[in-house]
Amino acid sequence: MRAFAARTQEMTRRATNVARVEHRVTEQERTTRSRHRGGVIWFTGLSGSGKSTLALELERRLFERGYQVYVLDGDNLRHGLNADLGFSPEERTENIRRVGEVGALFARAGFIALSAFISPYRSDRTCARQAAVQGMFHEVFVKANLATCEARDPKGLYKKARAGEITDFTGIDAPYEEPETPDFVIDTSRATIDESVDQLIDYVARNFALAAR
Ligand code: ADX
Repeated sequence: MRAFAARTQEMTRRATNVARVEHRVTEQERTTRSRHRGGVIWFTGLSGSGKSTLALELERRLFERGYQVYVLDGDNLRHGLNADLGFSPEERTENIRRVGEVGALFARAGFIALSAFISPYRSDRTCARQAAVQGMFHEVFVKANLATCEARDPKGLYKKARAGEITDFTGIDAPYEEPETPDFVIDTSRATIDESVDQLIDYVARNFALAAR
């Protein structure tokens, strides 16, 4: 399988003669109103590892605590913004590039964006980190090995991939590059969803408080 390390540099920039405009609402004004920092919590892991489940439950619980929070989910965005993209390495790179930019916008708007994408390539995740303002991006590795995810198979996709009905399926005939230095690890084969979300709430309280700056 070929290495993908340099692909994030490959995009051709076509937008020329474009200047930036300044917002008239400052980041500080936004965070003062929301009473927490903005940022991106980037869940990465195999299909079936629990990314969406954790993100959606975390969204619910943070919302109830008054946080401005929104889930960006792979399956959902692939119905709209990313409906033109499949699962080749190049298309996954573009998928993650777009979502990285969207997450960065949410973060600037003062939200906590919870993104749930397999995002199998390290270089793409690095690119998503770079799209966000420094310190606003938190990579969470949702750790569950292939056997566990395949046994869960919530959408029946591993079965289809094994039968050859789906190709380029992550973990079967497409790679997943584990994070080397994630900001946080959740092992969903050991902890329950509730325990995992409790850990994430603590993580958010520590890292998104205004005083954490
Ligand atoms: S990513 O690799 O580009 O980050 P993303 O998270 O957007 O993937 O989408 C993954 C979801 O698409 C999976 O949860 C699964 O439901 C579906 N899917 C369909 N085909 C594939 C495939 N070949 N590999 C992985 N996921 C697939």
